[in-house]
Amino acid sequence: MLASKRILLIIGGGIAAYKALDLIRRLRERGAEVTPVLTRAGAQFVTPLSVSALAGRKVFSDLFDLTDEAEMGHIELSRSADLIVVAPATADLMAKMAGGQADDLASTLLLATDTPVLIAPAMNVRMWQHPATQRNIATLRADGIGFVGPDEGDMACGEFGPGRMAEPLEIVAAVERDVSAGPLQGKRVLVTSGPTHEPIDPVRYIANRSSGAQGTALARALAALGAEVVFVTGPADVPPPEGVQVVRVETAQEMLEAAQAALPVDAAVFAAAVADWRVEGAAERKLKKTKGGLPKLSFAENPDILATISGARSGRPGLVVGFAAETDDVVENATAKRARKGCDWIVANDVSHATEIMGGTENDVTLITADGAEDWPRMAKAEVATRLAERIAKALT
Ligand code: CTP
Repeated sequence: MLASKRILLIIGGGIAAYKALDLIRRLRERGAEVTPVLTRAGAQFVTPLSVSALAGRKVFSDLFDLTDEAEMGHIELSRSADLIVVAPATADLMAKMAGGQADDLASTLLLATDTPVLIAPAMNVRMWQHPATQRNIATLRADGIGFVGPDEGDMACGEFGPGRMAEPLEIVAAVERDVSAGPLQGKRVLVTSGPTHEPIDPVRYIANRSSGAQGTALARALAALGAEVVFVTGPADVPPPEGVQVVRVETAQEMLEAAQAALPVDAAVFAAAVADWRVEGAAERKLKKTKGGLPKLSFAENPDILATISGARSGRPGLVVGFAAETDDVVENATAKRARKGCDWIVANDVSHATEIMGGTENDVTLITADGAEDWPRMAKAEVATRLAERIAKALT
């Protein structure tokens, strides 16, 4: 809930501005007070009248509106909120923020504020991928600006890819996270989750029994403590949590690339059950049955994502946590795995047949750190997630 939380909403000039109207409604439904600021370009997409009608208050748009300056200066306007939300955040607005420009009300507010800022970028795919925008993103992240989205999908311009503004409810979840003042506020955490699928041919693949339940619960628990979570997931059974940035992948190679693209992060948790091998030279066409012959599959080793990121020379997260699914000698094997993979902690789980962990709702874990092994009682996966998220918060603060 957002009861009496004050949100300053800056609406930039993009087609996604129409979603900002729904966002105002959703925020107010949850009890937030929304003060809207509409940029000149934003007013080309939505009218000041609809914005102020939905917000139930005056919309600010001009830096030189003297009446407003008399009632409330822009400095005060920028600081009287609990959170500033920019939705949609256009490439231009992000460039202004990264460059510290202040040539209109929105950019001046963003420069003058000492309030946390959350942005929901929205732009064409190519604009998002352009090195200039990527540089600005890195600068804004380093400045402590929070991001929600963009999502991947069909865009108004007819192209497909990252750049679509996050849906209003995703933005609401990110706002709830940001005003909750949890111990992980301002921290960015990567979580990998689910299985990977390694293709044999266009219709067949090698997979494993991971449901993604533990990774999903963990991402949810980290977000609930205020973290900005990048959730890189293989094709899992359970849907991803709300309020996190979801990156969907299929193969181990794609998962590695997505994990590396998420850096820098304060902590990374590798809960995915990554396939150790892929089929070498997967067929581009469906393999057919041939009389008397069986297909010959040969395998290649997949990259070890946890080991790669643990061993990164630059940009290694401050805390790297791996999981170890073991069937016997759990503590011994997991302790050796911690050393081999170079991570800080290993969450070892006993997946021997009798424990029914994989696909189940409970987990039986031992946390292995530099200080030794700590046996946790068997508990629900959601509880394991909360406890682990709390431990991560303690380690990062
Ligand atoms: N992992 C990874 N990339 C891989 C394989 C595993 O990131 N290619 C990560 C998992 O997400 C997990 C940890 O490494 O955090 C341990 O995975 P596990 O499958 O238990 O270890 P393996 O390296 O496969 O070791 P073994 O098969 O010898 O048990």
